Amino acid sequence: MTDICLQTDADIPAIESLMAEAFGSSRHERSVWNLRPGLPVASLCLVIRNDDEVVGSLRYWEVQLGGDIILLLGPLAVRPVMRGKGYGKQLIAESLRRAKKGPWKLVLVSGEVDYYPKFGFVPAAPYGVDWPGFIEPERLQFFELVDGVLDTLPQGPLAVRPREDQPRL
Ligand SMILES: CC(C)(COP(=O)(O)OP(=O)(O)OC[C@H]1O[C@@H](n2cnc3c(N)ncnc32)[C@H](O)[C@@H]1OP(=O)(O)O)[C@@H](O)C(=O)NCCC(=O)NCCS
Repeated sequence: MTDICLQTDADIPAIESLMAEAFGSSRHERSVWNLRPGLPVASLCLVIRNDDEVVGSLRYWEVQLGGDIILLLGPLAVRPVMRGKGYGKQLIAESLRRAKKGPWKLVLVSGEVDYYPKFGFVPAAPYGVDWPGFIEPERLQFFELVDGVLDTLPQGPLAVRPREDQPRL
């Protein structure tokens, strides 16, 4: 049986092993981790279980985009042997449903170019996103939690930075 729910402290070892399996042991050296110095958004830390085993994990952090606080999606990973069964899709759909309850208006992801558009993500590079570190610009994609919010963004460059008052570990 498959079930999506909030992660618990007991899930952390399984999540860490899943992330190491998906992104390797040097994953914290990637530029996206500069944006995650503190704690993730607890209400959006989801795991998907299959017969009680954690087979996928998705978390979000809050970041600054210019003067606004938005959500940064990821990391997202599904156990290699469990891929292609729709678990990643379910995690994203459920997390976006929860994120729409607010207070956020916009999600940014640095992710697979072909994976996110199916959920409604659009290229972020045209908005002049200034990412802290190396990134292939086409990987940056936005999702509107509130319709039309992209039209209200100020003209770029829009710096993406860690949330200044992010709760620390
Ligand atoms: C990316 C990842 C989370 C996808 O999880 P998954 O459970 O295999 O994905 P799903 O089964 O829900 O796939 C949903 C759809 O996306 C497609 N898809 C899966 N992985 C994809 C990828 N890397 N790029 C493009 N499309 C992909 C599937 O074919 C499927 O298409 P469909 O809806 O037309 O059938 C998983 O492959 C993974 O953990 N990868 C390693 C870590 C990673 O790259 N994380 C994402 C960083 S942005």
